[in-house]
Amino acid sequence: MKKLTLLSLVAATLLFTACGEKTKEAAGDVANKVTEAVKADTASAVESTKQAAADAVEATKVKAAELAAAAKVEADKMAEAAAQKAAEVKAATEAKATEAAQALKERAAAATAAVTGAPVEPAAYAKCKGCHGADGKTKALGKSAVLAGQDKAAFIEAINGYKAGTRNVAGMGMLMKGQVAAMSDADIEAVAEYLSQK
Ligand code: HEC
Repeated sequence: MKKLTLLSLVAATLLFTACGEKTKEAAGDVANKVTEAVKADTASAVESTKQAAADAVEATKVKAAELAAAAKVEADKMAEAAAQKAAEVKAATEAKATEAAQALKERAAAATAAVTGAPVEPAAYAKCKGCHGADGKTKALGKSAVLAGQDKAAFIEAINGYKAGTRNVAGMGMLMKGQVAAMSDADIEAVAEYLSQK
């Protein structure tokens, strides 16, 4: 009896130990599987976070490039408008300066005329001087009569004759037609008045 009990005890102990090993193994397996699963999950979470971050960086880059392009277009537009404005201001200033200079010149000439009694040269006579002389006393190209001191009415008639293409004294009527084509009645009157006083 004693021997049997001892034997069963040994057997039970052996069984128990074996069972314990199995349980441990199973527990170990489960733990390994859980660890693997957690590792895999973590890896995929890290991967998708990385992807999302990369996407966000890419989107930001694209947006920044778009904004930069839009800003450049805007800046170019503004620069062009500024240049245009500057050119306008420059042109306007130049025109004003030319006008002012012309007005000053005319006033100075008028003042001189008032003091000396000399007639003031009208602007329309400027292009005639090359042939007829500053004082109107040159025979143009050796062909024309002297203009200085001419009777106003005769002078006006002569100019209108050239304008109409009907006057031709020395064969140079066509040349004179071109010279006086753009003269207004006021221009003709002013030049006639000026030369009649020479
Ligand atoms: C390129 C030289 C030239 C220029 C510039 C010129 N003329 Fe003459 N002009 C002539 C010649 C040449 C004649 C003679 C034309 C003819 O055959 O009838 C003439 C004739 C005239 C006559 C007629 C004179 C007369 O009593 O028969 C008048 C007036 C006259 N010119 C006025 C002017 C005026 C005003 C201007 C400026 C707007 C002018 N000319 C510019 C060459 C010129």
